[in-house]
Amino acid sequence: MGQVTERVTVVDHPLVQHKLTLLRDKTRSTADFRRLMNEIGMFLAYEVTRDLPLATREIETPIERMSAPVIAGKKLVFAPILRAGIGFLDGMLTLVPSARVAHIGLYRDPETLEAVEYYFKAPSDVAERLVVVMDPMLATANSAVAAITRLKERGVVDMRFVCLLAAPEGIAKLRAAHPDVPIWTAAIDARLNDHGYIVPGLGDAGDRMYGTK
Ligand code: PRP
Ligand code: URA
Repeated sequence: MGQVTERVTVVDHPLVQHKLTLLRDKTRSTADFRRLMNEIGMFLAYEVTRDLPLATREIETPIERMSAPVIAGKKLVFAPILRAGIGFLDGMLTLVPSARVAHIGLYRDPETLEAVEYYFKAPSDVAERLVVVMDPMLATANSAVAAITRLKERGVVDMRFVCLLAAPEGIAKLRAAHPDVPIWTAAIDARLNDHGYIVPGLGDAGDRMYGTK
């Protein structure tokens, strides 16, 4: 599962760590960056769903009837923060194909680093479901805090946040703003630089994923 402190889980699986190193490398191509992000998304989906409650269902194998475990309750919701959160989505949906999707469009104002919303579309019954909010980068946490606040305004009470890289400043801010929302990350980096970028980080995740630099 990885190391857990104060509701922050670092997913230290060797394959995740290896793929993260490949992603950080500035010579990685756009195509490989996207592929690796999706692959890591699968591992993170595996970890973030590890403790989902199970129910039992009566089925018939070719040999006999049995009570077999199935995921209990309503289908969960994956909520990528656009654009970069989309990088995890296909990988996560590969593992949980029946999940619903809520899109949250936010960009960081380059001067103020405040999150600006430009799109929001969630299932009408989102409040009744577990929502996994995803964004590869937790830097100042302004985007994550805004996304989670928006979902709470829609009545969501059960949320988890998944990222690839977190800055200590971002973790502290998200923990303070939404202490009820546990965090999963593949790594906690050293700090933020003067422009709000994670150091050593991987640069601008959206630009690297879509080749827009
Ligand atoms: C990036 C990233 C996060 C946000 C993290 O998005 O994908 O959403 O910054 O920074 P924060 O924790 O300081 O809010 P960006 O605004 O660059 O938009 P993009 O994903 O569309 O490129
Ligand atoms: N957004 C990114 O894409 N990268 C960072 O390092 C910080 C915010």
